[in-house]
Amino acid sequence: MRQKLIIANWKMHGNLARNKKLLEAYVEKLTPLNSVNIVVCVPYPYLAQAQAMLQNTDIAWGAQNLSKDAEGAFTGEVSAAMLKDFGASYVIIGHSERATAYCESDENIAIKFKQAQTQGLTPILCVGETLIEREAGVMQMVVAKQLDAIINLFGAAVFANAVISYEPIWAIGTGLAASAEQAQSMHKFIRNRIASLDEVAAASLKILYGGSVNPQNAVQLLVMQDIDGGLIGKCSLNAQEFEGICRAAT
Ligand code: 13P
Repeated sequence: MRQKLIIANWKMHGNLARNKKLLEAYVEKLTPLNSVNIVVCVPYPYLAQAQAMLQNTDIAWGAQNLSKDAEGAFTGEVSAAMLKDFGASYVIIGHSERATAYCESDENIAIKFKQAQTQGLTPILCVGETLIEREAGVMQMVVAKQLDAIINLFGAAVFANAVISYEPIWAIGTGLAASAEQAQSMHKFIRNRIASLDEVAAASLKILYGGSVNPQNAVQLLVMQDIDGGLIGKCSLNAQEFEGICRAAT
């Protein structure tokens, strides 16, 4: 049985005062829910705050990106070891908002994935198709290509105990989530593709769904067999809504 995992992605939101209130509410509302794993991915400057406020709780924290390099003259980059310095245990890799805005290649994303694992962080790999790709019926091909970028470089075994988040780009921040059947179908496709190469890795891999998850649609998504949790944007900024989603996972 894979334990459900709910991850907050704050994106570029927050400030010290607002985060303090939000994290206090997380601790109060979410720590009693011990059958679900909860993680919050904060902007880099707030890692120290997350560490200070969450270190004695069951809520883990992480970042939203990392450098593909371990150390060196890379102005503006942040390494995996730096994230570890602040107690981070997870890192989002290849979110579509980054992949498009900052032209991240699949190969770059694959190297970041490996870099995170090598340094002891759990990577949360984002995959997903655009609306045009879905309408053209090529969504599985698109996601397969994103997975293969990692498999071809590092093999399928790297997915053991990793996290993949299926985030159809058309569902992110639009209020229009994928249906439970659409999501389950893609999640099963992802798990089968990994299983065809490494069954053990596929069985431990957590596949989350992300894109307009809210307390109303969370249960129907989370009961599906291959949906192991959610990556939550907007609703993670509201403690009550985020609690509703986390409760749906129990
Ligand atoms: P929303 O929940 O705001 O649609 O964002 C999803 C997302 O991008 C999580 O990474």
